Amino acid sequence: MGFFDSAQDVFDKGVSAAKGVVSGVAIEQQAFMKGFVRLCADGWSQGWHERNGGNLTYRMTEAEVADCRAFFYENPSEWIPLGVHADNLRGAFFAVTGAGSYMRNVPLDTARNVGIVEISATGDACRVVWGLKDGGRPTSEFPSHFMIHSVRANATSGASRILYHAHPVNVVALTSVMPLDARTFTRALWKIMTECIIAFPKGVGVVPWMVPGGAEIAMATAELMKTYDAVIWAQHGLFCSGADFDSAFGLMHTIEKAADIYVKARLLNEGGDFANTISDDGLRAIARDLRLNINVSFLD
Ligand code: 13P
Ligand code: ZN
Repeated sequence: MGFFDSAQDVFDKGVSAAKGVVSGVAIEQQAFMKGFVRLCADGWSQGWHERNGGNLTYRMTEAEVADCRAFFYENPSEWIPLGVHADNLRGAFFAVTGAGSYMRNVPLDTARNVGIVEISATGDACRVVWGLKDGGRPTSEFPSHFMIHSVRANATSGASRILYHAHPVNVVALTSVMPLDARTFTRALWKIMTECIIAFPKGVGVVPWMVPGGAEIAMATAELMKTYDAVIWAQHGLFCSGADFDSAFGLMHTIEKAADIYVKARLLNEGGDFANTISDDGLRAIARDLRLNINVSFLD
């Protein structure tokens, strides 16, 4: 057998071996994973993800799970207890960033920095079925993501699929100088930039400083997410939910931009009261004309 014959033979064997392993569109090429990776890259370019800061989870559809199954590990990881429990997520699958993963590395090596996890039939544990190569674990904030997914799925009749956690500078800065309540933060942001009441008509929730990564902060955040699409963690960051990657990223972007304008206006004004903001009647008029179902308890 000549060189080209044997090379062809090796090639053919390689192709048939590959065909024997999997067929279909690779997980990195699936539309949901492209959206996932793009959000991570966009968040990094905004400066919201120092080191391993921030995390992202996506609740997959049944069709997406079916399209990905051929690529799942023959031997998934052991079950990882979550420390929390949700009946409505039993058997669900999530795409998740890894604990300690840097958002800036997600586009470079998705299968190492991102994984797919399956939730147990008891709704209180998960196992890695794809990605998170070499023993990676889901984000340390997965208990919070998991509990919030549970309440957001209920609150939106299943429409909400994405939870995005980031460390945006201006939102975090404001938690050092403003009272830590939803009304104060919501009014500050609604009144400084017109689009805010449109982007988050229910307002933003605020969780006081807590130890990250555990069941306590998960339960506190999930409780607020029954009402709000976004919740601030004092001295830490922001959680945003959405039905798709654009709306989750857009909500994060809007809240951080409004906080940036608020901080700049405060600095320009040397901390004094503002000469001009949107009045409560102005906010009512936006809600009336755009038919928004706003949280009226936040208006005077
Ligand atoms: P992870 O690396 O575990 O996702 O943690 C980052 C973070 O932002 C913790 O709140
Ligand atoms: Zn964080």
